Amino acid sequence: QKLRVEVFKTIPSTNEAVKILATGGEAEGKVILSEEQTAGRGRKGRKFFSPPGTGIYMSILLRPKLSAAESTLLTTSAAAAVALAIERVSGKDTQIKWVNDVFMEGKKVCGILTEASMSLENGSLDYAVLGIGINVAFPADGFPDELTGVATSVYPDSSAQGDLRNRLVAEVLNRFMSYYEHLTDRLFLTEYRQRILSLGGPVLVMKDHIQRKATALDIDNDCRLKVRYEDGDEEYLSSGEVSIRM
Ligand code: BTN
Repeated sequence: QKLRVEVFKTIPSTNEAVKILATGGEAEGKVILSEEQTAGRGRKGRKFFSPPGTGIYMSILLRPKLSAAESTLLTTSAAAAVALAIERVSGKDTQIKWVNDVFMEGKKVCGILTEASMSLENGSLDYAVLGIGINVAFPADGFPDELTGVATSVYPDSSAQGDLRNRLVAEVLNRFMSYYEHLTDRLFLTEYRQRILSLGGPVLVMKDHIQRKATALDIDNDCRLKVRYEDGDEEYLSSGEVSIRM
């Protein structure tokens, strides 16, 4: 399907802008892209660092026929699309930290925030806003203290702009849309799984304020993380209920 892309110089949050359009009845396929966000949102109520000229901040309006449980596939397929797009454009490897952070050389380079609204009538999704933030060039003033050592950019210098950014946007959108058209076939799953960090290795599972040591075993077809605790118990974790430290 055709996407309708609108570009802003600055905006509070592309997710917020697309949500407003969605509640006003806008059709699927609207994309808002901004060069800067003044109130970029991250997961868990955090802010997303979105300075001008160095990143890609965009949100896509989707109206998928999915149950709430299947909506994880939007985020995980987007992570796979971003990972492949970055590899194609930069020639460098990427990894995915379950559930949807894209990493390069051990640091986060992209975050994804999906905000969905359920329809009360039939328990399926009314709309989903898929927000993608990618650090493309190194920020001119560096990353803020709390991101130093944690975040990185696709390109190590601050001059990578314009064309590269546009190519990356096009790669991400094309790849994501081709996954999205057959989402429940899970064509993205092999690429997703291959890039997951820590499979076979130790992780810390934080659930209901309790932290337990575990080994990450696998990703299942619903992108749940299968872990084995030290006492031998195994569990499938969904993204909403836990956080993982590697
Ligand atoms: C995270 O890693 O916590 C998720 C970050 C998501 C950031 C993107 S940038 C475009 C879109 N608009 C927002 O306000 N947030 C998302």
